[in-house]
Amino acid sequence: MPSQPGGILFLNMHQSAPIGIFDSGYGGLTVLREIVRTLPAYDYLYLGDNARAPYGIRSFETVYEYTLQSVKWLFQKGCPLIILACNTASAKALRSIQQKDLQAFGENKKVLGVIRPTVEVIGEYSASGKVGILGTKGTVLSDSYPIELNKFFPSVHVYQQACPMWVPLVENNEFENDGARFFIKKDLDKLIMQDAEIDTILLACTHYPLLENAISSLLPGKINIISQGKIVAASLADYLTRHPEIDTQCSRNSQREFYTTDSTADFDRQAKIFYGEAVSSVHHTLAE
Ligand code: DGL
Repeated sequence: MPSQPGGILFLNMHQSAPIGIFDSGYGGLTVLREIVRTLPAYDYLYLGDNARAPYGIRSFETVYEYTLQSVKWLFQKGCPLIILACNTASAKALRSIQQKDLQAFGENKKVLGVIRPTVEVIGEYSASGKVGILGTKGTVLSDSYPIELNKFFPSVHVYQQACPMWVPLVENNEFENDGARFFIKKDLDKLIMQDAEIDTILLACTHYPLLENAISSLLPGKINIISQGKIVAASLADYLTRHPEIDTQCSRNSQREFYTTDSTADFDRQAKIFYGEAVSSVHHTLAE
């Protein structure tokens, strides 16, 4: 029997369907790009809630509500597994969804985030044991990274800096000019000033890989700059191997579908930059 939480008809769990990838906007495409490289045979359905991005400045309640609506819709489309390719949603909504909501979507439905796979490995990149985290205000204020990283690398010191201007610069394609460099430098300086021995900086927002060139040109060469895409992709591959009950529900026709809650023309233009190839998106309005 298909389950119907909230009056929505969910597809039978035995049918196979794409893996859902969600972000507030375009950032998750940097993760999808790496996932597709690692696991090209699977099908993926991407949803960007561009109409309501950025999430990084929003309250816990709002990020939870928006993320839950997106997750519901992706399950309704049949996805057996959803990756929140967004640190802000992973920090502020994932736990509540896993603990309160997941059961209602039926057996063997899973939602995973990007923070856990990252903290499992990030300590290995640092020789000094001092790691900097750059993220949205929401991610930084949640303290998810220091708390979770401590479980895997208790001796690593974590320093955080919120970069509230970076997502708007990236979403608006204004990230390669002098104005952008001003804001990037300002936040990097604030991070580095916390401890000169920071030797590893995590880009803990899936939008930031687009700023990697600017960031590395503004930092001393000895600092490792780590993006999450490859880490999340490797972790997903491992997860699917360890969870055949989920893996068998994931369809494999190498198909990708893209949905946005805002303009498809804007999405297609920007997606090329984040995803690295042309896409043709479909508009979808999420239920209020
Ligand atoms: N890509 C999201 C993240 O990783 C973006 C945040 C936003 O919408 O502010 O946090």
